[in-house]
Amino acid sequence: MQTITLDGFADVREAFRQHDLQQSLYDAGGVVMADCLLVLHGSDHRKRRRVENRLFRRGTFRYWEKAFLRDVVRDTLAPFVERGYADLQELGYRTIMNLTAMVAGLDQPTGSIEETDALYRFAKKFSEGATLVHTTRDPEVVRAEVQQALDDFDTTFLQPSIARRRALLAQLEAGEITEDDLPRDVLTALLRNWDELDIDDDILRRECAFYLQAGSHSTADAFTHAADDYFAWAARDPEAAAAARRDPAILQACVYETLRLHPASPVAQRRALTTITLKGGTEIPEGSSVVLDLAAANRDPSVFDRPDVFDPLREIPAEVPRWGHAFGGGMHACIGTELAGGVPSGPSADDAHDQVLGTVTLMLDALLGAGGRPDPDKAPQRDPHSARDHFSSYPVVFGG
Ligand code: HEM
Repeated sequence: MQTITLDGFADVREAFRQHDLQQSLYDAGGVVMADCLLVLHGSDHRKRRRVENRLFRRGTFRYWEKAFLRDVVRDTLAPFVERGYADLQELGYRTIMNLTAMVAGLDQPTGSIEETDALYRFAKKFSEGATLVHTTRDPEVVRAEVQQALDDFDTTFLQPSIARRRALLAQLEAGEITEDDLPRDVLTALLRNWDELDIDDDILRRECAFYLQAGSHSTADAFTHAADDYFAWAARDPEAAAAARRDPAILQACVYETLRLHPASPVAQRRALTTITLKGGTEIPEGSSVVLDLAAANRDPSVFDRPDVFDPLREIPAEVPRWGHAFGGGMHACIGTELAGGVPSGPSADDAHDQVLGTVTLMLDALLGAGGRPDPDKAPQRDPHSARDHFSSYPVVFGG
């Protein structure tokens, strides 16, 4: 099969918007990804996305950020600060895990750290399954481990969460409670729209597992890279980095610059359902595989001046998001963009309380505010089991 790689910013943006390019990156990761939102196409995708989009309405995360996100971030960090050290990968997952479980609709009846850690282990395993295409381990072994994890996840978290929601839906039917008493999460939305969406128990299970890993892995990864980039910037240009500590909008721009330079998904992949000619002249023959090289497009020198330089204060064209293509685009554009990345602060956002910073910026702010810095005795490690740009460990210390 012919493979066409697109690495220019404009080509990638146009390709994301083409309805005749179908998702194909997760073909190898079917054990956890089959029939998930991210792999659906056409009207199946539209139907599912419409139902799930309702949970991600603009304004929801503005409220979340005001109501409890800062507390979640602070409370998760506190025991690590007290102990004097942390691993950013672990800290990132711990912080985001409970939020992602809440979005997915997975109850945590005890609220214990053990429960969060169990979800963390599941999310890591599901993420390994989703990115099977990049694994350097034996794919069959990984597939069997992911299947086992799905079974355990089903018993431990999913079935009790389904039972609680079915009982609530029965109460709603009987007029004993109102819409407002229902949890606002993916699981509830799927149970309520079961017939319209034409799903079954296995699809439901994979969709919840997919959300758990899609939301947590990318956010934890972005957090670790954001801290790494910030530390390097602070060493190079302490004054500019100190100014970012005083202005949340600049800190948010730091996170966007990190997302541009280290997109959690460095490539997207599609299959051409028909022959397509892009505006720039590239012809994509029917049946070919198209690699959208997001990491390369995010360093396109025609859009980003000095593209390899981490420069949160850079000027960019008005129609280009600071994060480039890190959140994808078109029909599969990341549904969690506002939760993870917030809303870019414009000139009108002069009221700091009205800004939506997003979880990654909140996490970075809390880390730096607690005096977090790289552990001088333990260097960060890259993930040896993935060809992706991931840290497997990033030790930091707090205090004197
Ligand atoms: C920094 C954090 C994140 C990054 C960099 C990121 C990146 C992406 C990208 C690149 C895609 C599109 C992939 C493609 O087109 O093949 C995507 C899709 C998606 N993301 Fe995110 N994501 C992040 C956080 C989240 C969060 C917090 C959630 C949910 C809680 C989430 C849920 C999803 C879902 C459900 C899709 C599929 C959308 C669809 O197919 O319609 N993501 N994400």
